[in-house]
Amino acid sequence: MDTENLVHSLGIRHIGIIMDGNGRWAKKHGLPRKMGHSKGADTFRNCLNSCIKLGVPCVTFYAFSTENWSRPKEEVDSLMRLFCTFMDEMMKLQSKNIRLRFLGDRKALPDDVRKKMAEAEEMTVNNTGMWCCIALNYGGREEILNAARKISELYHSGKLDLQSLDEERFSSFLYTDGLPYVDLVIRPSGEKRLSNFLIWQAAYAEFVFMDVLWPDFSENDLIDAIVEYGKRDRRFGGV
Ligand code: FPP
Repeated sequence: MDTENLVHSLGIRHIGIIMDGNGRWAKKHGLPRKMGHSKGADTFRNCLNSCIKLGVPCVTFYAFSTENWSRPKEEVDSLMRLFCTFMDEMMKLQSKNIRLRFLGDRKALPDDVRKKMAEAEEMTVNNTGMWCCIALNYGGREEILNAARKISELYHSGKLDLQSLDEERFSSFLYTDGLPYVDLVIRPSGEKRLSNFLIWQAAYAEFVFMDVLWPDFSENDLIDAIVEYGKRDRRFGGV
């Protein structure tokens, strides 16, 4: 199959990926959960490279939700370490022309993680290639609520006219300001739900749920999901 032009020919602008199944993968292999995340981080790197290769303009990976704090501290700490390692790599590798963006509420994150996030973003700010977004301490409802608060503040200080508030303007208050809406959401691991991921941005996305666990997710799985997307008839509420 000619995969080189696949993404472009299908008009895909933004893919969202819910990296799910690390824990089950670890259990299946008799390993601690953090090893599942570590293997999941390798898969994330491979998938990022596949997205570059396939010419995906923008990809968002769901790395840590606002609900994930309820996991054991050891697991949360190991995830934070994996995020920091990735950011260090991005800074060392000159980031392959990727534009990095973190989506989510940074306030609750440890200082060192926040600092690295800001540095890695800053370092890629003038890049011109693919957008790689990492949803970290992200929750879709929190994002919308946050936008509503900002809008309300601007309204009360007389800086925003509610008549001018259309979908485009509202979107500019979200973490994804300036990024395209999501065309395709891929969720491996057999679960069939959105889990508070990009709920505004994925309003008209196509969903592809796959049975593979995230650590085993391969470039072929990504291509299969894109091919499946190509078979869908997107009508956006029309006929
Ligand atoms: C969900 O699987 C996965 C997560 C909560 C973490 C995802 C993070 C990574 C893959 C680490 C690498 C990311 C970066 C950006 C370096 P789960 O633990 O809920 O799996 P389960 O449902 O099988 O228990």
